[in-house]
Amino acid sequence: MTVLRPHAEDLYADELAVLAKSDDRPRPPGWRLSPWAVTTYLLGDGREITPKYIGPRRIVEVAVATLATDRALLLLGVPGTAKTWLSEHLAAAVSGDSTLLVQGTAGTAEEAIRYGWNYARLLAEGPSRDALTPSPVMRAMAEGRVARVEELTRMPSDVQDALITVLSEKTLPIPELNEEVQASRGFNVIATANDRDRGVNELSSALRRRFNTVVLPVPASAEEEVEIVSRRVAQLGRSLELPAAGGLEEIRRVVTVFRELRSGTTTDGRTTVKSPSGTLSTAEAISVVTSGIALATHFGDGVLRPGDIAAGIVGAVVQDPVSDRVVWQEYLETVVRERPDWRDFYRACRDVS
Ligand SMILES: Nc1ncnc2c1ncn2[C@@H]1O[C@H](COP(=O)(O)OP(=O)(O)OP(=O)(O)O)[C@@H](O)[C@H]1O
Ligand SMILES: [Mg+2]
Repeated sequence: MTVLRPHAEDLYADELAVLAKSDDRPRPPGWRLSPWAVTTYLLGDGREITPKYIGPRRIVEVAVATLATDRALLLLGVPGTAKTWLSEHLAAAVSGDSTLLVQGTAGTAEEAIRYGWNYARLLAEGPSRDALTPSPVMRAMAEGRVARVEELTRMPSDVQDALITVLSEKTLPIPELNEEVQASRGFNVIATANDRDRGVNELSSALRRRFNTVVLPVPASAEEEVEIVSRRVAQLGRSLELPAAGGLEEIRRVVTVFRELRSGTTTDGRTTVKSPSGTLSTAEAISVVTSGIALATHFGDGVLRPGDIAAGIVGAVVQDPVSDRVVWQEYLETVVRERPDWRDFYRACRDVS
């Protein structure tokens, strides 16, 4: 059986092995690689190590350096800025394991951060270490690995605060057994939180002080965003067995439309446009292009054309059927229509709008 989405440490096992072999710099206790090699793994070396994260080197260095201290790392940013992606690859490179994951939701309970019980055993045998079901955080502490907490600010505040003892005392008490689990060296936490959701369950200041915050930016230029989208689309295409049919021109178009609508002005700076309610993130651009390629592969001639991306773009832009539709129509008629080399795209959009 082949899995749909292998973990980073499995997918990139070869690259991690190459780095581990040539890495002669000092490794912090419990780390698989030196901070320098972790950074190379993330940014690529132009040869056999492919870039995973595309963005400012300094950001990655600060994130990696933080993990080597006793402070935890909080990746903050608007949706689709690769917070989850970076956290997975960081955990894979530092601990060789990206699976110690707690997903924060409104319903996340304290057991997800501390521990739960296997009730059958608890009733039969009473509280014992065998009846205890450790959380990913507890396992990370015991094994000296990196635990990941996704969407930290979506968790109820009292659950978030369960992390305070873990992060400041590096221990997790188990009062029922009169025991504790002490963190082994190599343990740390990477949390992600969405800028837009900041108001959901604001981090308490006690918890915030235990994190170093790294804000992930949106791609600085259209060129950078085109590169991110092309790279990820090619990777996804390979794992979904969709032939990657160039499509650079269409990728440029999706990125241009998204950037113009996001920023509220056209690339040449001459026309102001209204911004729709959705985020139009890089992640959404990636999925618009990937679905376009699926359309072209299964229902077209295998070449990505304007008609294959039009529906995806309209779907991403028009989230609110009333106000976003107005925004989209205006953009279509004042910007798209006026571009001579966008004729096909204009027609395709008219057909789906
Ligand atoms: N700078 C970047 N470098 C590499 N990949 C990127 C970059 N920005 C976005 N991506 C890609 O975008 C996709 C979505 O990223 P991810 O899910 O990590 O976003 P997120 O910040 O966690 O968003 P959310 O707030 O919605 O959870 C990933 O496939 C990732 O590869
Ligand atoms: Mg995420």
